[in-house]
Amino acid sequence: MKYPDLRLRRLRENPLLRKMVGEHAILKKDLIQPLFVKEGLSQSTSIASMPGQFQFSEKDILVEAAKLETLGISSVILFGIPKTKDLNGKKAASAGGILQRSIAAIKKKCPKLLVIADVCLCEYLSHGHCGHVVKGRVQNDESVATLAKIALSYARAGADVVAPSDMMDGRVAAIRRLLDKNEFKDLPIISYAVKYASAFYAPFREAAESAPAFGDRQSYQMNPANTAEALREAQSDMDEGADMLLVKPALAYGDIIYRLKEKFSCPVGCFSVSGEYAMIKAAAQKGWIDEKKMVLETHLAMKRAGASFIMTYWAKDLARWRSGDVIHV
Ligand code: PBG
Ligand code: ZN
Repeated sequence: MKYPDLRLRRLRENPLLRKMVGEHAILKKDLIQPLFVKEGLSQSTSIASMPGQFQFSEKDILVEAAKLETLGISSVILFGIPKTKDLNGKKAASAGGILQRSIAAIKKKCPKLLVIADVCLCEYLSHGHCGHVVKGRVQNDESVATLAKIALSYARAGADVVAPSDMMDGRVAAIRRLLDKNEFKDLPIISYAVKYASAFYAPFREAAESAPAFGDRQSYQMNPANTAEALREAQSDMDEGADMLLVKPALAYGDIIYRLKEKFSCPVGCFSVSGEYAMIKAAAQKGWIDEKKMVLETHLAMKRAGASFIMTYWAKDLARWRSGDVIHV
């Protein structure tokens, strides 16, 4: 059929029909809210480059988690910021550490909330890199050993899922092995398998106080020019035992989400990162765009690309803006 018999506008005119034939949707269950908790804070502090987001105190993060649970958000991903950072990052894996305490407290107060723990070293190391540094180089294998211990400590604290975001080679296998040895055979791993060295992370580094003190992350995070490498990263993490794959950033990487979704049968998600949040917030504050419409459209684009779940700083707002399980069609 072709024009004049074919008239694609026939299905667009009536709003009920338009909705009925909608192909993709954002559902509330897709959304994961990232939260930051900082040790030693008496009061939560707002993050300047991420309006509406906070470094929560240990007390306040519980209140926030409970609010999210009430709003019907099913999951959070947690980032811990210790009071002081050092060169060995030992605190990251300590049973009494800031994130371990928060995981346990949130699970106790909100047992229905799925708690994902981000596993990395950059928040704990004074130089801000995602692995141990010797003579100016980020060391792979030493970092992997520490990361596995961190993941285990989060599992012991009660995390439902661990999500390594460091981009060291072999860390998924090391984490899987250590979890298995310690009776966490059934604890799933979301691998930040495809994480690009991106300018979109800048506001997060303010939030997590984790900007690298020297150099950048290009020796471990991926070059934005690469597609085939994303498939290799994903394949190797699947071979190592990842249960789910994550693409990061999200907005400028829809092609990568799509490629992964086509090739792998496991769930593929994306992380709509701090810079995506900051740029829409900033433009909205200036009155240049409509924040709600923009957020619904960008998140729909992530779903269309193939994301099963979305880590997004708008999770709470999306749940507030729309009642019910369907956020947008
Ligand atoms: C660190 C980490 C980063 C993010 C999640 N985990 C930043 C980075 O690699 O510098 C980015 C999240 C965001 O920008 O919202 N391992
Ligand atoms: Zn890191």
